[in-house]
Amino acid sequence: MKVFITGASSGIGAALATAYAKQNANEGATIGLVARRSEHLQNLRSTLEKSHQIQCIIYPLDVRNSAALASAAEEFMKLHGIPDVVIACAGVSRGTLTEHQEDIAAFQAVMDINVMGLVHTFQPFIAAMRALGRGQLVGIASVAGIRGLPGAGAYSASKAAAISYLESLRVEMAASNIAVTTIAPGYIRTPMTDVNTYKMPFLMDADVAAVKFVRAIEQKRRFVVIPWQMGLVAKFMRFIPPFLWDFAMKKAPYKPRLDWDWL
Ligand SMILES: NC(=O)c1ccc[n+]([C@@H]2O[C@H](COP(=O)([O-])OP(=O)(O)OC[C@H]3O[C@@H](n4cnc5c(N)ncnc54)[C@H](OP(=O)(O)O)[C@@H]3O)[C@@H](O)[C@H]2O)c1
Repeated sequence: MKVFITGASSGIGAALATAYAKQNANEGATIGLVARRSEHLQNLRSTLEKSHQIQCIIYPLDVRNSAALASAAEEFMKLHGIPDVVIACAGVSRGTLTEHQEDIAAFQAVMDINVMGLVHTFQPFIAAMRALGRGQLVGIASVAGIRGLPGAGAYSASKAAAISYLESLRVEMAASNIAVTTIAPGYIRTPMTDVNTYKMPFLMDADVAAVKFVRAIEQKRRFVVIPWQMGLVAKFMRFIPPFLWDFAMKKAPYKPRLDWDWL
């Protein structure tokens, strides 16, 4: 089993790497781990290699850098072969408000990381997967992409774009037997949600969620919301008319507008 995961230094990405390592312990699995924080990747690599006898290769890079991802993908394929699964999980979420001039940079960063990051991650693997006649590309979107959430314009827009982009890609890849899976998580307990001060319905631990994500990937689901309870909410969200959405969102809590040093 060969898996290549972005956003592997924390939260869902790290939990996915751990779930794959556990599932493939002692079976010669190779996992590529991508994120910016090198020391987090190194720690995860040594934990997984020690406890599960698998091989991890780390690529400390920014998913906004298409050339860096292309060379990581090339190196991974040269040394370890074409991955069975590529998971684009890297993402950022911060509150944004359009009226603040200083939030323009945040809008740009969120779109670049959450949307272009997917394109940069998948692009270098597609030709090889097409030649092989199989493969799987997985994008981590969000329920926040189904309707526009107030106070999170950048994040909602980026995840809506991710959902549509992944759907286009799924149809484009079908003839080459390359599956595309979109996972739209509800609330998962990670550093991304730890900053939220409001109540998060159906909040799920990352390790529990990761096992469900891996199952959905194995089943080659086209689009799945996890947890399932949030899937029911998402169905409702998708179909209610705009005036009802506006009413429901009137008192919705806003994601905090934190510091900008993460850009
Ligand atoms: N937690 C939730 O409730 C939830 C719900 C819906 C969707 N999601 C999505 O799930 C994905 C993972 O989020 P999480 O909750 O696990 O958050 P997290 O713990 O903050 O992890 C985000 C990951 O993305 C990486 N990342 C961010 N910007 C990057 C960049 N420019 N280049 C490379 N890597 C970058 C981070 O690593 P570095 O900082 O080291 O680069 C980190 O590994 C995101 O796409 C998020 O939008 C999460």
